[in-house]
Amino acid sequence: MAFTFFFRDLYTLEIAVNKLVPIISGRSRIKIWDAGCANGPEPYTLAILLAEHMGKFAFKNVQITASDIDESQNFGTIIHDGIYSDEELKRIPPEIFAKYFSPLQERPGYFIIDELIREKVRYIKSDLLSYQPAETNCSFILCKNVLLHFQYPERVEVLKMFHKSLADGGLLAMEQTQKMPDELQHMFNRVVPDAQLYEKIGGN
Ligand SMILES: C[S@@+](CC[C@H](N)C(=O)[O-])C[C@H]1O[C@@H](n2cnc3c(N)ncnc32)[C@H](O)[C@@H]1O
Repeated sequence: MAFTFFFRDLYTLEIAVNKLVPIISGRSRIKIWDAGCANGPEPYTLAILLAEHMGKFAFKNVQITASDIDESQNFGTIIHDGIYSDEELKRIPPEIFAKYFSPLQERPGYFIIDELIREKVRYIKSDLLSYQPAETNCSFILCKNVLLHFQYPERVEVLKMFHKSLADGGLLAMEQTQKMPDELQHMFNRVVPDAQLYEKIGGN
């Protein structure tokens, strides 16, 4: 159930980052929520993309809250340590890998993510079906390959919670195969026709 990998669905993430960066760069606090983050490749991919697209000073203001129900009980430690095996890192473009990952002398075949990236991601154990947001006033919520595990009414309630947790004009990304339920169409504008990326309509 926690299948994930670095640079997954780069297409959607790049559209989101390109749309977000001009809007958020001037803000003193940029809150992002990765809901259903597994053991970290997704929030770390997003942090790397933001670091690549934002100036150093604007990137300092980014805070990614990564949450998961975590049945394995070890995602917090893995995300905190930011250490992954070469097998897990093989999809990362070589120039990005060279820039943000260093080999661990004491563990051959393992690499640690640069501290500038690591310090941007904080992990919280949280069940989306408790309908308690792990973060509020978010510029961006990323929830990919999670909602498909829920019943339709649960999905609708989780998406309503995301709407509340987004700042005005904030973005929501889901996986390509997910659709916005009909009864929530008035709450979100689709940003592009070929990705499940939505902009919040209205306030709370
Ligand atoms: C297939 S992984 C997706 C990981 C990542 N978002 C991606 O797309 O690569 C699904 C994740 O959803 C998490 N999950 C499932 N039910 C959840 C719930 N009720 N609340 C929070 N996370 C949940 C699982 O623990 C797992 O880590």
